[in-house]
Amino acid sequence: MRNTLKLKTFDVNNDIEDIKTAAKILRNGGIVAIPTETVYGLAADAFSGEAVKKIFEAKGRPQDNPLIVHISDFSQIYSIAREVPESAKKLADKFWPGPLTIILPKRPEVPDETSGGLDTVAVRMPSHKIANKIIELSCPLAAPSANISGFPSPTSFEHVEADMTGRADAICDGGDCDVGVESTVITLATKVPMLLRPGGVTLEQLKSVLGEVDVAQAVLNPMGKDEKAESPGMKYKHYSPDAQIQIVRGNLTEFIEYVNKSDCDGVLCFEGEENNFPDKKVVTFGTENDSLSQAQRLFDALRELDEKGAKNVFSRSPSTQGVGLAVCNRLYRAAAFRFVDGVKRPIVGLTGPTGAGKGYVSQYLESLGCYICDTDKIARELTEENSPFLGILAKNFGEDIVNDGVLDRKLLASRAFASKEKQELLNSLMHPEIIAIANERCRHALYNGAVASVIDAPLLFEAEGDKVCDTVISVVAPKEIRLERIMKRDSITEEQALSRMNVQHEDSFYTEKSDFTVVNDGKTDIKESLSDFVNKYLR
Ligand code: TXA
Ligand code: MG
Repeated sequence: MRNTLKLKTFDVNNDIEDIKTAAKILRNGGIVAIPTETVYGLAADAFSGEAVKKIFEAKGRPQDNPLIVHISDFSQIYSIAREVPESAKKLADKFWPGPLTIILPKRPEVPDETSGGLDTVAVRMPSHKIANKIIELSCPLAAPSANISGFPSPTSFEHVEADMTGRADAICDGGDCDVGVESTVITLATKVPMLLRPGGVTLEQLKSVLGEVDVAQAVLNPMGKDEKAESPGMKYKHYSPDAQIQIVRGNLTEFIEYVNKSDCDGVLCFEGEENNFPDKKVVTFGTENDSLSQAQRLFDALRELDEKGAKNVFSRSPSTQGVGLAVCNRLYRAAAFRFVDGVKRPIVGLTGPTGAGKGYVSQYLESLGCYICDTDKIARELTEENSPFLGILAKNFGEDIVNDGVLDRKLLASRAFASKEKQELLNSLMHPEIIAIANERCRHALYNGAVASVIDAPLLFEAEGDKVCDTVISVVAPKEIRLERIMKRDSITEEQALSRMNVQHEDSFYTEKSDFTVVNDGKTDIKESLSDFVNKYLR
């Protein structure tokens, strides 16, 4: 147990004595919790292995998880990093001081305790005035978030007090943190810069400066057991409250329905939604369309759930755009990647013979807010250069149909259409793959707010795509009209168009298996033909 000094550090001028005290403790090898614009940090002299060791003890942190070195002046970077590439300077120019951490090759003077034994080191210049002043009056500071390892990072003095009293030499009260989630971490030690942890500086912003930026797989996905972590921090359990959280995919209406028929005792929702859950312990984290407010609130909300004693919590699913990526990165981990599907909006199959004018119908549906998934496009993607699917085709139709990653379409066609069996083989390979991809894209679009997802597939029934659909619309048209459309669309003769039409099914093949039919003869109003569908599924 340490005797923990409490310091007041709200204002650089008024509170200068307490700030000096903090700096002095740090110069003497002590550990101090300091406010930053992201989260509170637990700081020590970055160049003193002895001092840094105390941080790991106080947090109960695994020794191989490296720390971030905080600086207050750009020139200090040269005492920490062995190389400072142009890209680092550009990033610093644009985003420092601020919530961005850059990983660079390390100088030997930085002790292994700070870098977790790695040859690289993380550097950040915070924008918080108090943090800056403390660094200025002491030295570059190694500082992880000031929570006990495995708990949500502290975003208020109350959180720091709860976690670090008796563990740190001093804790500084600087009020609530602005950003609320830890800094963005990017490594420049790889060929292409890679985002390791999303934060207040967004992926979009990083790309605007660097062009290409990869995103580490672990940002929105759980780490596989045998996977190597790009950043050691990714492999540890993180941000885990006592409550078991499950994230419900779906909009507010779907969420309310899902939650209220479940036996959960807690709800994590957006501000203004609280009153929909009369019998639950409700905690909010920001507003639905403001990722910044969600980031600011998230960690406090997680602690609040535990304070209220919630055990089984359903959470709203935030957007992954902008700072939303950082919110989702933390929330998904807090929920141990448990998701449930509350979406009630439909996946709609759209099919019909060639020339019937499915295109008009899909355009209309798109104008109503539907996501349109074009299966012809997926088929093209599957056979594009270097598509992994080419390997499957090659295995079944001969290795010589793929050369340097490029499919010889003519050769494949000559083999696939040689017999009925071969043609069926091709379909049995392509169809399930296409439908699986379509289904995944459709669900994804629904999670992101589409009013419905439409699988536009001429061969919907043949590929058994109707099985993943909630309802099916077929589009048919009189033969003369189809003939005219096909000739015009594909610039072919009447004979060619007829031969194409003749291998197709009769209209009844489609209409008998569909829930809705549009007769697109150029006279009927599509809107009117679809009004029953719209009333049933899009209201
Ligand atoms: O906003 C923040 O970054 C806060 C405040 C206090 O500045 N600090 C913070 O530190 O979040 P910490 O230790 O909780 O997170 C540092 C992350 C860890 O995930 C760690 O694995 C990663 O950065 N990291 C540090 N050095 C690294 C390196 N050389 N290579 C890869 N990842 C590194
Ligand atoms: Mg941390």
